[in-house]
Amino acid sequence: MEKAVLKIKRFDGKKEWIDSYEIEIQDRTTIIEALMHIHDTTDPTLSFRVQCRSAICGTCGVKINGEKHVLGCKTKIKENLQNGELLIEPLSNMEVIKDLVVNHQDFLYRIKDVKGWFVPKEDFQPVYPEDLQKFDKETDCILCGICYSVCPVFETDKDFGGPINFVKVFRFWKDKNDALGDERIVLADKEHITSCVHCKYCSFSCPKQIPVEQDILQIEFYGKQKGIIKKEEGGFGFSTPFGF
Ligand code: SF4
Ligand code: SF4
Ligand code: FES
Repeated sequence: MEKAVLKIKRFDGKKEWIDSYEIEIQDRTTIIEALMHIHDTTDPTLSFRVQCRSAICGTCGVKINGEKHVLGCKTKIKENLQNGELLIEPLSNMEVIKDLVVNHQDFLYRIKDVKGWFVPKEDFQPVYPEDLQKFDKETDCILCGICYSVCPVFETDKDFGGPINFVKVFRFWKDKNDALGDERIVLADKEHITSCVHCKYCSFSCPKQIPVEQDILQIEFYGKQKGIIKKEEGGFGFSTPFGF
């Protein structure tokens, strides 16, 4: 056992402040285990989200040390201590309801804008492993909102659909039994897919290792080649972080 100080950003609906809690941790103690311990033994007013504790439900996302966005139930405290301390804050780009609890509706409601569900064709075809491989990773999305939290585009384009929406577009567009086909690319265009600056923060942060930025690149490239998405003049058919 060793001591660690958790600095937790608090919010009561009106004001923000930081509370510090000294706790004892083991090598394997996760952020969620520590938050539950503090809640049960020291401060029952501390609010946070937790459900499966197995990196499945996607509810426990938090920001740590001002830079990493992680699942609290999967992330060990010891590996992230800085001088014996860990700063824990709510995810970004979402309304904070209380302490570490954010409003997931901010991104969940947007999924309907890209029809983020399966629309079956009438002539349903048999599905083989090679068909599933085309969108295998994208089906792992647990709607944790971490990619949404790290994305810098919302600062400049409030109408940007966001990385989760484009993961949904990719997943169903690649499904040979989905009836919408290229209509999904039209929806991605309406959701300002070209506002993505390809920083890859979403891909690096995704706890399920979904190649979010590559999916966006593929949708954009295809859409521009097909004339569904307008090409930038003099560009290569897709945008890059280097402005060409
Ligand atoms: S790659 Fe695009 S979608 Fe992903 S975080 Fe960067 S700007 Fe946002
Ligand atoms: S793509 Fe990854 S980071 Fe984004 S919501 Fe899905 S699982 Fe979370
Ligand atoms: S509590 Fe379900 S993913 Fe962390």
